[in-house]
Amino acid sequence: MMYSHEIIGDSTAILEVKKMVQRVARSKALAVLIYGETGTGKGLIAEKLHQQSVRSQKPFIDVNCASIPVDLFDQEFFGQERGKLSNVLLRNNGLINAANGGTLFLDEVPELNHLSQTKLLGLLDRRRFRRIGSVRDVEVDIRFICATNRILFKEVKAGKFRNDLYFRLQVVSINIPPLRERGDDSLILAEYFIKEFNRRYGRTVKGWEPSISEIFRAYHWPGNVRELENLLERIFVLETDDQILVKHIPPRIMRELESGASLTHSNSLTEIIGVNKSFQDATSEFQVKIIQNALSLKNGKLSQAADLLGLSRHALRHQMNKLHMR
Ligand SMILES: Nc1ncnc2c1ncn2[C@@H]1O[C@H](COP(=O)(O)OP(=O)(O)OP(=O)(O)O)[C@@H](O)[C@H]1O
Ligand SMILES: [Mg+2]
Repeated sequence: MMYSHEIIGDSTAILEVKKMVQRVARSKALAVLIYGETGTGKGLIAEKLHQQSVRSQKPFIDVNCASIPVDLFDQEFFGQERGKLSNVLLRNNGLINAANGGTLFLDEVPELNHLSQTKLLGLLDRRRFRRIGSVRDVEVDIRFICATNRILFKEVKAGKFRNDLYFRLQVVSINIPPLRERGDDSLILAEYFIKEFNRRYGRTVKGWEPSISEIFRAYHWPGNVRELENLLERIFVLETDDQILVKHIPPRIMRELESGASLTHSNSLTEIIGVNKSFQDATSEFQVKIIQNALSLKNGKLSQAADLLGLSRHALRHQMNKLHMR
């Protein structure tokens, strides 16, 4: 997919990301990791990383790792020589070859199995590969951008993601914050999408009634920017009013706001607290999870995790000591 627009938003969180994109794009980094929940803009950012790099005139190849059948990895990536012994008639050049000089975007990278992960790591380290049926290595110059919405650190612990590949990819990584952590960006994005849909659907929708701002600010946006975009498009298609009104917001979202589920993430809460723990144990455990989560989102950086949690670095360290975290 090709996105034509810019990264929209002026929250501190997204400005930080934009700065990072600029810096990384112009750097010589050959492997970049993008982490973000679903719909946060990983695809968009991968594309910007390519466009702002010296590679922009070369190909940007987009691969969803979940869609590559396990036994076809070599064929798809490395390609295959026209065979004397095999029944391959035409040479298949493969994705690596297609991306040479440019960027290869590997979306949902933890979907690769262990063997494919090993091959990817080999490629990152040696920057050469061998086509199936060939006896010669070919050198390549590719920037690999890997994306995931999973916390890779957890995947490593669960034995699903190779430790060495994880460390290799961690070197340069960009964390995209969820929409709910971007202040009023939901409003700025809504304005942008309304303009877009006015054009696309030949409409003249002008803004929204005031309570919509409150709704957009308070809602948890589990599907992030994509959810907001889809919500507005749905309203454009189904409603005829020239303004976005509260009655256009799906009952599902209103119910969630009323029950306060948005603020407490009720699912994970029951999961963590369980049924027969003391209040003390349950709250401590909850605090540990929150801190661990913040730390892993910020790659273990204490002061950034503290920022995310709205604590001073000192207060966070104090909490961690109290909870016997290392
Ligand atoms: N900051 C932003 N400014 C403008 N548009 C954005 C922004 N972030 C996301 N979008 C738009 O939201 C939609 C979802 O973004 P994208 O597909 O990049 O998300 P993703 O993180 O790759 O999601 P998934 O994990 O589901 O693949 C796209 O239409 C994209 O253009
Ligand atoms: Mg995507």
